[in-house]
Amino acid sequence: MTTDTTTKVVPTGETVLDARGVTMRFGGLTAVRNVDFTVNAGEIVGLIGPNGAGKTTFFNCLTGLYIPTEGEVRYKGNVLPPKSFKVTAAGIARTFQNIRLFANMTVLENVLVGRHTRTKEGLWSALLRGPGFHKAEAASRERAMELLAFVGLDSKAEHLARNLPYGEQRKLEIARALASEPGLLLLDEPTAGMNPQETRATEELVFAIRDKGIAVLVIEHDMRFIFNLCDRVAVLVQGEKLVEGDSATVQGDERVVAAYLGEPFEDAPGKDEVAEVEAAEAHAEAATDAAPGKENDR
Ligand SMILES: Nc1ncnc2c1ncn2[C@@H]1O[C@H](COP(=O)(O)OP(=O)(O)O)[C@@H](O)[C@H]1O
Ligand SMILES: [Mg+2]
Repeated sequence: MTTDTTTKVVPTGETVLDARGVTMRFGGLTAVRNVDFTVNAGEIVGLIGPNGAGKTTFFNCLTGLYIPTEGEVRYKGNVLPPKSFKVTAAGIARTFQNIRLFANMTVLENVLVGRHTRTKEGLWSALLRGPGFHKAEAASRERAMELLAFVGLDSKAEHLARNLPYGEQRKLEIARALASEPGLLLLDEPTAGMNPQETRATEELVFAIRDKGIAVLVIEHDMRFIFNLCDRVAVLVQGEKLVEGDSATVQGDERVVAAYLGEPFEDAPGKDEVAEVEAAEAHAEAATDAAPGKENDR
């Protein structure tokens, strides 16, 4: 088992994920409609959109959890197998919007579970615990510890997963996903419930993952996080891809702003507006200091 954690040279440009005309219907409801979508090697791509836009459903279509009603998904040129464990074995790993860890297993055990698609030693070997099993297990543990160190959880390897604070559970999910040695990692709302420091740490972690040669596709509501992180952002609205482009293109698109009306996002305004808001806040603060109770006139 290789234990290489050094930065790999990322061949950019090669298409890792290629989804064509993906449609997913549930009875009369079309949750995803005719979506074309690609992720290239070396890229971090964002998928945003209001609640119920179909983001998670689209992820499920990329991971074999759902078979698209129409359309085709290819990973490195091959059509995805119709089972999620086979998709993981092919090289796509994911985390879930609602954390799915084995609560009563240790942190290390959770990562070891994530390695099962990569170990040749099968179930019988594990049950009979022959010499091949012990050797494979030692290598797996070594790699799992390495991944825990990578996400900053090595000191908690023996803790039960359920005793980790929420932000660390999300990190553990990422370590477990990485344990399958993916070429593409899908993150569904990785910073949900995190404080700003944890969110920033997650940003660094995603950059580090990309630097290891793993392409990343991330769903997130935190726009600051998305626009800092992503090379490209696609916007899903009512199951359809509305806009796609770099951060500036997406932020400047009126249709995106309209789609988000009622869900205003931080940090979207241009520099002038930011300066204006900061000046107003400073003014309000000064006014409050001088005359407590005086309201900010925004
Ligand atoms: N398994 C399912 N069966 C029926 N409807 C579903 C299912 N999964 C999602 N939906 C519906 O599909 C739409 C998109 O949901 P989802 O993909 O979870 O949106 P998002 O992740 O963008 O918030 C919603 O209307 C949701 O109710
Ligand atoms: Mg979702």
